[in-house]
Amino acid sequence: MNARQYIKELREKIRYYADKYYNEDAPEISDYEYDMLVQELKNLEMMNPDLVTDDSPTRKVIGDVKEGFSEVRHDVPMLSLQDVFNKEALYDFDNKMKEALGENVEYTVETKIDGLSVSLEYINGELVRGSTRGNGVIGEDVTENLKTVKSIPHKLKTPIDIEVRGEVFISRDTLLRLNEEREMSGQPHFANARNAAAGSLRQLDVNVARERDLDIYVFNVQKSNKKFLTHKESIDFLKDEGFSVVPVCNIAKNGAEIEKEIDEIGEMRGKFSFDIDGAVVKVNNLEDREKLGNTSKTPRWAIAYKYPPEKKPTKIKDIVIQVGRTGVLTPTAELETVHLAGTNVSRATLHNEDYIKDKDIRIGDTVLVQKAGDIIPEVVEVVKEKRDGSEVVFKMPEKCPVCGSDVERLENEAAVRCTGIECPARLFRSIVHFASRDAMDIEGLGPANVELLLDKGLINNIADIYYLKTEDIEKLDRMGKKSAENLINAIEKSKSNSLDKLIFGLGIRHIGKKAGKLIAAKFSDIDEIATSSAETFSDIDEIGPKMGESIVKYFNNEQVKDTIEKLKVAGVNMKGSKKELIDNRFNGMTFVLTGTLPTYTRQEAQDIIESFGGKASSSVSKKTTYVLAGEDAGSKLDKAMSLGVQVINEDEFKNMIN
Ligand code: IVH
Repeated sequence: MNARQYIKELREKIRYYADKYYNEDAPEISDYEYDMLVQELKNLEMMNPDLVTDDSPTRKVIGDVKEGFSEVRHDVPMLSLQDVFNKEALYDFDNKMKEALGENVEYTVETKIDGLSVSLEYINGELVRGSTRGNGVIGEDVTENLKTVKSIPHKLKTPIDIEVRGEVFISRDTLLRLNEEREMSGQPHFANARNAAAGSLRQLDVNVARERDLDIYVFNVQKSNKKFLTHKESIDFLKDEGFSVVPVCNIAKNGAEIEKEIDEIGEMRGKFSFDIDGAVVKVNNLEDREKLGNTSKTPRWAIAYKYPPEKKPTKIKDIVIQVGRTGVLTPTAELETVHLAGTNVSRATLHNEDYIKDKDIRIGDTVLVQKAGDIIPEVVEVVKEKRDGSEVVFKMPEKCPVCGSDVERLENEAAVRCTGIECPARLFRSIVHFASRDAMDIEGLGPANVELLLDKGLINNIADIYYLKTEDIEKLDRMGKKSAENLINAIEKSKSNSLDKLIFGLGIRHIGKKAGKLIAAKFSDIDEIATSSAETFSDIDEIGPKMGESIVKYFNNEQVKDTIEKLKVAGVNMKGSKKELIDNRFNGMTFVLTGTLPTYTRQEAQDIIESFGGKASSSVSKKTTYVLAGEDAGSKLDKAMSLGVQVINEDEFKNMIN
């Protein structure tokens, strides 16, 4: 392959991974691996300067402002921090500050929250705008999403003009909940809390942000018409005004005191309900800060100390299998208990079969464990010198340890799964998911009641829900006649739900809420869905081949066929909302919508396109027939121009359909 071709492919790869990271909140490679790809591209471009293009990922910051958000220019740039990784650097920092500012210099030492930096602007005490950091100078306007964060005051006690900066984050518990939900709907896990917070805040749909339980800690006054002498004073003021401020902000006067504060934060690390990725040391006096100023990227008056991940040796007593609610068999090491980053650890994930093989992990081995992202302990390495020959090689089981069904491992996947859809390990979760708000929305059928119904053998699969009787339910603990009736009514009501809720509720792998909607809109009923080919699904924009294959496979399962039949007999709505075709004038044409149209909503325009046999797609390519553009059209319009795709406005579109 020549250099031109190689560079082209490398750029495509980088854009792909950047898109996964910035737009889908689902990075496929680690930050380190991504940085290495960019580094490789940089080197190649340095050696081949004639091949450098303006749109190369080395030139253009990817993921700055997402389409659909407007840009915000930060008057006071939102700077980053210089990282240090060892304790000596703390003393060097102290010496440097004392040289420049004198012996009396004072610092604050704070928790460094691992989330996403935002700016909040108040005029006359009213919240007027909230934005992301973006590239530090230009960020995205995410005011509406930030207004869903409960700890952000919309009105301050004092009517001042002030801009504050803080970190939006997601607690560890919320991250676990979100990842459980994502697993259920076949979406990849958020890699960490930071990613989940970023993805949730940069959502065009405010309701998504609201459901994600975002939180914030503020840590800096960017500008204000009220004067402060010290940083600490400004943080105390913010607290009085109703902000939730950085949980630790302690004073230190020299290297040793800084180290002590940092150690204390380090000790508390595992006990916080949120992730921290270090501690920040800042000069406290604000005039001193002015004197020192900033480099183009970072302030000279602050540093970030990054804690090394704590690793400890322990012994693997056994390797057991846990079956998750999607049927994934996860090998888990049972350990001799060890104290790690604030908690006692006696189990650690071994992820999957390949992980165990790659690291040659055996039962009886002495291993090093660490907490990944400070949450789930994992085995990082075997201490091979400690082997005495008694260690036992682990083998994945061929049958599900819970229900005895065969297990399978799909090509290109590391996970081994149980194939029985009525496997008890999956059933509880499947039913809870089926009844949840975004799925069939059966009020009163939460985890506690599902457990009761399963325990008493009143249900054995999702369809059984529709055959429950008030008499059965009222006999259960904590259930009276009234609540039993309410539950029966809620179940009855769910029968008339739109088909997308049922599709999502079935818990088909890779099929989330959005895919459920896309599919329900294209088919007349569930039978048509159950008998369609994988290609029919992947022809739908935003439905990929993996999703298509997953649907076909799902409906081919005998237990599934049975369940669907029982749901049908019970009277659950199976009708889709396929549009009637008016005529075929847009046959073979693909439209991309961008910006705000004067009279149609996106959905209306899309419905019209489809009712004339056309396709609405989300991304512009050479194959796009028309880009239908409204006000504030973003990068899609630029792309259409550069590819020579014809751009039309709403009036022109109306002429085409009249
Ligand atoms: S001070 C001018 N303090 O860390 C203010 N940053 O790695 C510069 N962060 O982009 C930042 N907790 O988003 C500061 N207590 C804290 C912080 C904090 C988290 C984030 C912030 C910054 C990033 C730099």
